[in-house]
Amino acid sequence: MDADALFADVVDKYSKHVNPYLAKLLQFAGFGVEMKGEGCYVWDQDGKRYLDCLGGYGCFSLGHRHPKVVEAVKTQLDSLALSGKAFFNKQGADLAAKLAEIAPEGLQYTFYCNSGAEAVEGALKFAKGVTGRSKIVSTFGGFHGKTLGSLSVTGKEKYRQKFEPLLPGVEFVPYGDSITASEAIDEHTACMIVEAIQGEGGIHVPPDGYLRDLRAACDKVGALLILDEVQTLLGRTGKWFGCDHDGVSPDLMTLAKALGGGVMPIGAVMGTQAVWEKIYGENPLSHTSTFGGNSLACAAGIAAIEVTKEEGLLERSTEMGALLKGGLAEVGQRHGDLIKEVRGRGLMIGVEFQMDEVGELVVAQMLKRGMCVAYTLNNPRVLRFEPPLIIREDQVQFAVETFGEAVSETTEVLAMLA
Ligand SMILES: Cc1ncc(COP(=O)(O)O)c(C=O)c1O
Repeated sequence: MDADALFADVVDKYSKHVNPYLAKLLQFAGFGVEMKGEGCYVWDQDGKRYLDCLGGYGCFSLGHRHPKVVEAVKTQLDSLALSGKAFFNKQGADLAAKLAEIAPEGLQYTFYCNSGAEAVEGALKFAKGVTGRSKIVSTFGGFHGKTLGSLSVTGKEKYRQKFEPLLPGVEFVPYGDSITASEAIDEHTACMIVEAIQGEGGIHVPPDGYLRDLRAACDKVGALLILDEVQTLLGRTGKWFGCDHDGVSPDLMTLAKALGGGVMPIGAVMGTQAVWEKIYGENPLSHTSTFGGNSLACAAGIAAIEVTKEEGLLERSTEMGALLKGGLAEVGQRHGDLIKEVRGRGLMIGVEFQMDEVGELVVAQMLKRGMCVAYTLNNPRVLRFEPPLIIREDQVQFAVETFGEAVSETTEVLAMLA
């Protein structure tokens, strides 16, 4: 099948059997069919190469198919793939021990699942079980997933509306404002759930001390603090976890995305001795997942942590992040009419435009030039740059130049339309 026929066939099947509306959206933006991924690049059906600065919404911190992760998964496949769930599982044990080594103090235990939303479901359930309370405090613009429980705490009306009533007792407060959050966290509160940096809300870095203040507010009334680190884990922000910047230990921490090393899907909830005792003390099976903690996913997770250490990716994220942010900010200065702000931490960077529609046009221009990014789910005004942490300096330069050209051409297109 030639490239055009392959593209037509995939689009046709999406339209008939997957999601016709998504098919239209992807086609409109100019996306082809992903055929191959390696390192910081993906290739489409025409053999065209793209620098992947979207990074699978945070999955590809090690790039695509990192050789060490691929090797670990292939080797594992030769002995045991999934877990039978009755025996002890070595890979699950090893990964949990490794996670406990790098996690904030007190997060000793790990429950495995398969996605970010599932991790959030688990954490919310644990908080309710531990405290016997039902109120949950979350943040406007926060993104925690789209399953019923996680959607209940996702701070975007657009996604929730059609599916109400969701979980009762959720109160939203502005992100980054610990005073309002502290007022909302009371003796009826089971937990506050919050991201270390709001990702899908538009890459918002909170003020220093914000998470520490939330920790204190929760401690005051016996509520639990859940940090949703699904997108901010394993070096994305320059530290192992986003909350390390504030030196905070939550009661529960949710993980997914990059934990699978860009090769396997995996989700996890980490928690303290106190939480585990309340949840599992009476019933060791009170929260379970058939596929969670399977050997292939855990082998990938172990390799992901090892590669992050061996390749110095925390430092690299800080270094390359500063370079990328600086370059994007220079483009922003040249195009102040279109670009409002460039912000972020490590290699989690957002560019906020002055108007909603500009982001989409710039994405299309960048695709044309061999680079992919996307806007944030809860805030279409913000383009997110989350390239692999293994990105090199010349690739950062290409990203900055391409962004500059894409913005210039968008300015011309808008001038013609005016
Ligand atoms: C902070 C955060 N939590 C939860 C999720 C949901 O993860 P998943 O799509 O794996 O269910 C996401 C996804 O973008 C996320 O960014």
